[in-house]
Amino acid sequence: MSRRPSAARRLHVVVTAGPTREYIDPVRYLSNESSGRMGFAIAARAAELGQRVTLIAGPVALETPPRVERIDVVSAREMLAATRRAVRDADALFMAAAVADWRPARRLAGKWRAKDGGAARARLELVRNPDILSTVAHGATLARRKRRLFIVGFALETGAGVRRARAKLVRKNADFVVLNGPRALNALRTSVIILGRDQSCLRLENRDKRTIAKALVGLLSHVGR
Ligand code: CTP
Repeated sequence: MSRRPSAARRLHVVVTAGPTREYIDPVRYLSNESSGRMGFAIAARAAELGQRVTLIAGPVALETPPRVERIDVVSAREMLAATRRAVRDADALFMAAAVADWRPARRLAGKWRAKDGGAARARLELVRNPDILSTVAHGATLARRKRRLFIVGFALETGAGVRRARAKLVRKNADFVVLNGPRALNALRTSVIILGRDQSCLRLENRDKRTIAKALVGLLSHVGR
């Protein structure tokens, strides 16, 4: 059932989801295990509440939630371009995508061949991808905006990670950061710690992603404060 925000203004919420894919040649790429479920659940929940939602999705096998505008992208650079465009008139950004940090320095036009009797090792040169969250949070796009963009980032950490996640929150200029572990990728249930710039800390243990999405979309009550 859809519920409209009663007195509150309808917000434009941008959500990124899924992995990015960085091609080596026409048939091979670097990517990761992200299924996109967390981002899709956030988009679905925000739309259910009557917000205008733009979902920027890497290559995933998920259906678009009702009343969500979806933009499909493949690489990190495509995701950056789409996100920059989408946030121009947005109120909030949830950066749930698992963006590849590196891409091959060159994309070969033909197949990368394993030569018969050739060398046993090969090198793949990588270059750094742009950091979408930092670029958007610090970027010129924002300088021209009338409203401040409310930003929720994610931090995937192996190990405890609260300190690292807090550092990411500050470095990437986000309002909240959602700390999760590698087991969150491609899982139905997960545990997260939601850390706020206001020093808040909320733990959600072993919940399904819809429940976590509910809590995250609840953070929109901070918009415009
Ligand atoms: N992110 C991004 N652009 C990138 C890499 C990450 O926008 N090129 C965003 C992710 O969507 C996430 C946050 O930054 O919201 C943190 O991502 P994470 O992978 O945990 O951290 P990294 O920045 O990749 O740092 P590190 O690899 O050192 O953990």
